[in-house]
Amino acid sequence: MTLDLDFVRAQFPAFEEPSLDGWAFFENAGGSYMCRPVYDRLTRFYRERKVQPYAPYPASEAGGAEMDEARARLAAMMGIDTQDLSFGPSTTANTYALAQAVRAWLKPGEAIIVTNQDHEANTGPWRRLAEAGIEVREWQIDPATGHLDPERLEEMLDESVRLVCFPHCSNVVGEINPVSEITAIAHAAGAFTCVDGVSYAPHGIPNVGDLGADIYLFSAYKTYGPHQGIMAIRPALARELPNQAHYFNGETLYKRFTPAGPDHAQVAACAGMADYIDALYAHHHDAPADPATRAAAVHDLMRAQEVTTLAPLLDYLGNRNDLRLLGPATAASRAPTVAVDLNRAAEPVARQLAAHKVMAGGGDFYAVRALQAQGIDPAKGVLRLSFTHYTTPAEVTQLITALDQVL
Ligand SMILES: Cc1ncc(COP(=O)(O)O)c(C=O)c1O
Repeated sequence: MTLDLDFVRAQFPAFEEPSLDGWAFFENAGGSYMCRPVYDRLTRFYRERKVQPYAPYPASEAGGAEMDEARARLAAMMGIDTQDLSFGPSTTANTYALAQAVRAWLKPGEAIIVTNQDHEANTGPWRRLAEAGIEVREWQIDPATGHLDPERLEEMLDESVRLVCFPHCSNVVGEINPVSEITAIAHAAGAFTCVDGVSYAPHGIPNVGDLGADIYLFSAYKTYGPHQGIMAIRPALARELPNQAHYFNGETLYKRFTPAGPDHAQVAACAGMADYIDALYAHHHDAPADPATRAAAVHDLMRAQEVTTLAPLLDYLGNRNDLRLLGPATAASRAPTVAVDLNRAAEPVARQLAAHKVMAGGGDFYAVRALQAQGIDPAKGVLRLSFTHYTTPAEVTQLITALDQVL
């Protein structure tokens, strides 16, 4: 069974948009195209339901019900309880609020572990806990490969470590980290885990229940949805951490770490992400299945498609001796988020690619520490070529042809 790309692309209004025609999109790790069900729900909300939700009149009831639907359906697909999923303005805002809670929860002398592979969103807010007397230990990547070695983590853990923060996948290294294995190591030492799934979730919604992470975060706007951060927190940890919301909302777990008022329309429109996954499932499979099974099947279809599409790009880049590919050279062990260190500044090269109707980005992508750790000057930056399951082999060929011209 392979992914039906025509069907997939028919679910995205961007592929019908004349102004985008002929443009190959390779900055998906920055933000993906939005799928049609999200777009339709968002515009419907603004047109028909743009009133305060949860009040006793039809427009409001429909808006509130749609917000609840989004939470319930996404949680079911992620293998977690509805109450364990919350929405916030962005992953950065979500980690910031969580870090405030952890700051009040930990005692001076206790420790957390952060990495230098993460995007700043899942490392900077945690590092600031040092200001409160918390010991911050850095789990470092291999400077040559960008790899984060779980054995190294094991050596760093002791009874004072309460939390380990790491990415499911870095937005510049691209390697998929073994979240279950790392979480098991942390749990065995008595520590919780906080996983940044922002660069992973667009490649297939993970079963967060099975992964075992105590906190799992990702961004809907990079996963075919609206501009929201999605956060899963296990109740055992959620109840230990102090409430960050209005005092009377703290017992409602999905409000407890989201001090910002919800963006009603965008939360509701997140139900469209579940619609999209269900539409892909129904198109490719006959057997009825529960939401987590449907999401897992779609995840596997997406990943298989991406692995096949990525191989020629990795081959091409691997055969050039004027650049350095960050992260693994094998498609199966990485996301199709491919950063390359060039012999010059990356941003002007991205600009040159645009002349060939290729949308890509150059810069540090807020992974400043990860670049520095690999000996790359963040000011020079890396060229990032990132795609998802909806990208065609022809678009990859267009990219390779353009790279041949500009490099
Ligand atoms: C890996 C990773 N983590 C976190 C973030 C921050 O997400 P948000 O923009 O939702 O704050 C990004 C954004 O680029 C990212 O790529």
